Amino acid sequence: QGLHALMVAAGKLYFGTAMETNNFNDMAYQAISSNRNEFGMFTPENSQKWEVTEPTQNQFSFTQADQVAMKVKSNGQLLRCHTLTWHSQLPGFVTTTTWTRATLTAALTAHITNVMKHYAGFCYAWDVVNEALNEDGSFRQSVFFKTLGPSYIPLSFSLAAAADPTAKLYYNDFNLETTAAKADGALKIVQLIQSPPQNITGARIDGVGFQAHLNVGQTPTRAQLAATLRRFTALGVEVAYTELDIAHTKLPASEADNQKQAADYVATVGSCLDVKECVGITVWQFSDKYSWVPGTFPGKGEACLYTEGFEKKVAYEAVVGLL
Ligand code: XIL
Repeated sequence: QGLHALMVAAGKLYFGTAMETNNFNDMAYQAISSNRNEFGMFTPENSQKWEVTEPTQNQFSFTQADQVAMKVKSNGQLLRCHTLTWHSQLPGFVTTTTWTRATLTAALTAHITNVMKHYAGFCYAWDVVNEALNEDGSFRQSVFFKTLGPSYIPLSFSLAAAADPTAKLYYNDFNLETTAAKADGALKIVQLIQSPPQNITGARIDGVGFQAHLNVGQTPTRAQLAATLRRFTALGVEVAYTELDIAHTKLPASEADNQKQAADYVATVGSCLDVKECVGITVWQFSDKYSWVPGTFPGKGEACLYTEGFEKKVAYEAVVGLL
């Protein structure tokens, strides 16, 4: 058994995790991640981001992400690729250049085309555009938005569709699970890609990724989560939880808090089971040892299914029980 094998038995495509090259020499980690019954899908946690793949304009570097891709592929597991057009983890040249519409369009074209062609055929899906929205559903004032307006989004999907016709193309964001106004904005993004401006041709969107960086005790119910997923599948796209973790806001977590965390994991995984077009779940690291949460959100943590010492938590057993 194992998370992935159970998800497949439940009719889904995969259960996955984020992984990065700094996890490679941790034998306890690798014993779990290389078990094909436990994880069937991997997302490079950082190595496919723009600052790594194109640190200097038109100089591409795939060494690090290739190591993740090769490890996964040689073990018969799949890759979710992450991410192309995003305001964060950008190289200096993207944030400091004074762009015009023409020069930024050319830079975006070169980036998406080169990175996606390098991995063509390797990625189950690509998070083409990541985190384009503010919490109120308006567009984030990124360098892309400020120079190109909303059309940078369908443009990215048009370039992506041309570069790798086989990858599923996703819009990916956080708090869509909890914030209706932001979900409204994401629905509009799907529609914008489906009916783009006339000068943008060949755009296609296949899926919406729900990052699901959630908090214990503040996670919507299974029914609420499923209803939100269905708002998107009604537009003809698939959905997935792409970066799931459920952080404790009070540390160390008590036994009662861990029971709550288990219930929140069950609600989230359960909502994917309830929606036919929800294809799978990726956790954003499976052990607290490598979770991004405590470093980014001081005071929060213990968000993963396994402890720092790779023991299975109550939440892990509850997810297995559900599946
Ligand atoms: C995070 C990584 O986990 C960290 O290691 C890194 O320092 C910052 O980025 N949304 C995303 C992910 O789409 O790429 C982010 O990953 C977490 C939030």
